[in-house]
Amino acid sequence: MVYAGILAGGRGERMGNTERPKQFLPIGGRPILVHTVERFLLAPGIDRILVAVPERWRAYTEALLKQHLPQAKALVVAGGRDRNDSLLRVCGYIEEAFGLHEEDILVSHDAVRPFVSERIIEENIRFAQEAGAANTMLPAIDTIATGEGAYLDTIPPRDRMYQVQTPQSFLIRPFVRVCRSLTEQEAKTLTDASKIYRLKGLPVKIVLGEQCNFKITTPYDLAVADFLCRTPEGDGLLR
Ligand code: CTP
Repeated sequence: MVYAGILAGGRGERMGNTERPKQFLPIGGRPILVHTVERFLLAPGIDRILVAVPERWRAYTEALLKQHLPQAKALVVAGGRDRNDSLLRVCGYIEEAFGLHEEDILVSHDAVRPFVSERIIEENIRFAQEAGAANTMLPAIDTIATGEGAYLDTIPPRDRMYQVQTPQSFLIRPFVRVCRSLTEQEAKTLTDASKIYRLKGLPVKIVLGEQCNFKITTPYDLAVADFLCRTPEGDGLLR
């Protein structure tokens, strides 16, 4: 089974004051979350879609998906206190509802990256099957530097630098096993699936990301996303 886990459990504080968390704000006339779920609905290879949202937005989300994508039959589950917690809750729900089988894969994706392509989803599934885990990463466009307080520290070679996007995908059973083996201290600091894999020395295969697979975080991103949805030129940029 290949599951899609859409992570929509955040509050979107960097978006500023909005009456709804950002994943419910409209772009091109439809909520961001609906665009994202639709991408997974249309992608070949995804068997079941789960969406993690804040508990108090559960009924609202169910109604929203029923209205816009009645054919999706997405399962809406309660998210957690941080992103990784929401991810673990999705895994927990799958384990309880369907059981965990050795070959089951979870393609986890930020709800606020609505322009993820079919190629990215397909490679995530394939690479997770091959290597156990995969992460979508965009080669750095700008030079990346590290800082130490007010001073520049190092400039690592740009050809080895990436911006981490989602989906992040993995075989669910080993992932859950690794998470349960973490010490309390490790669990606090390891807030990312790929970080956990690397700490344990496990391979994570790279799926090349795309610029349009950006995360809608600020009002600027929201305006860009709305533009891309609404104009024919924008549609061209998304291919
Ligand atoms: N997310 C989640 N559960 C949480 C926190 C975040 O599922 N407890 C999801 C968000 O809904 C989002 C994705 O993780 O789709 C990426 O997180 P980010 O953009 O940082 O979202 P927020 O935490 O909502 O934003 P902010 O940091 O501005 O509050």
